[in-house]
Amino acid sequence: MAPGPLAQVLCQLPQFDDPDLLSRSIPFADAGIYRIADDLALVQSVDFFTPVVNDPTAYGRIAAANALSDIYAVGGRPVTALNLASFPRQLEREILIRILEGGAEKVREAGAVIAGGHTVDDEEPKYGLAVTGLVDPRHMVTTVGARHGDLLVLTKPLGTGILASALKKGVVSENEIREAIEGMTRLNRAASRAMMQVGVSACTDVTGFGLLGHAAEMAEASHVCLALEFDKLPLYPGTREMAAEGLIPGGSRKNRQYYLPRVANREELNAEQLDILADPQTSGGLLMAVAPDRLRGLKTAMEKRQVNFWIIGCVEKPQTGLLRID
Ligand code: CO
Repeated sequence: MAPGPLAQVLCQLPQFDDPDLLSRSIPFADAGIYRIADDLALVQSVDFFTPVVNDPTAYGRIAAANALSDIYAVGGRPVTALNLASFPRQLEREILIRILEGGAEKVREAGAVIAGGHTVDDEEPKYGLAVTGLVDPRHMVTTVGARHGDLLVLTKPLGTGILASALKKGVVSENEIREAIEGMTRLNRAASRAMMQVGVSACTDVTGFGLLGHAAEMAEASHVCLALEFDKLPLYPGTREMAAEGLIPGGSRKNRQYYLPRVANREELNAEQLDILADPQTSGGLLMAVAPDRLRGLKTAMEKRQVNFWIIGCVEKPQTGLLRID
């Protein structure tokens, strides 16, 4: 759902006040976090969506990498996953098998197991997983904790929403957006391990609300302003060109409507900047706030694991807005 309507629904629901439900006190927590011992908590997350690419196996892999990502964003380790699939009766069953194979492949790579699942008949295919992981709640990383002076690090390029929209309209081929497909398929595991080895102030994964939304959430949760440098944002090849062609996914406009008021200098932004900032990401990277004296350690830990990363801005004191784009 779009961020506005979703927030309106969530705020009307009854709250569970179990003190072990740790995610309740974390603003914008994507995963449910439930403490079962002082040093152990369950991390649970679920996500599913319609195909973003044509190849069924690649779609399965991407959906699984995306579903596992919320576990990695808090520094957790995925343990079990349940498949969620809806599938049209008239489609070849072989397609469903390939989707599930792609998902299983990534779950295996994550060191987790598929413990079961559920399928329903539906007009269009949808696939994703409910994932359960473990984390030490004393060391988990959340949206809370970004501090003035921290640097902002992003571990995957942006543009998957725009490129998937171009693919759907037949403007590009799967081969032409190969890098984005590889990026969406990549687990955030290595980035998460590097993060936990070094210790960072805050982290979230960049998914449906775009960099704009997820950065705004981190800023609000941490009571700071995130200053992003637009020219430093990494983009998958073709993103600018496809955005200029107007291949903007529907979610982009909703993200913009909801989060743009949080940008202090929103009047200065041009259409291209807005299209990229608000672009909903599938299986996006981790956005981390890291103290400057830990940056060198993070760089070493990332390079050792062959994780790409970009420094895209810094954390400032709260200003007139939660975000500033330079
Ligand atoms: Co997330």
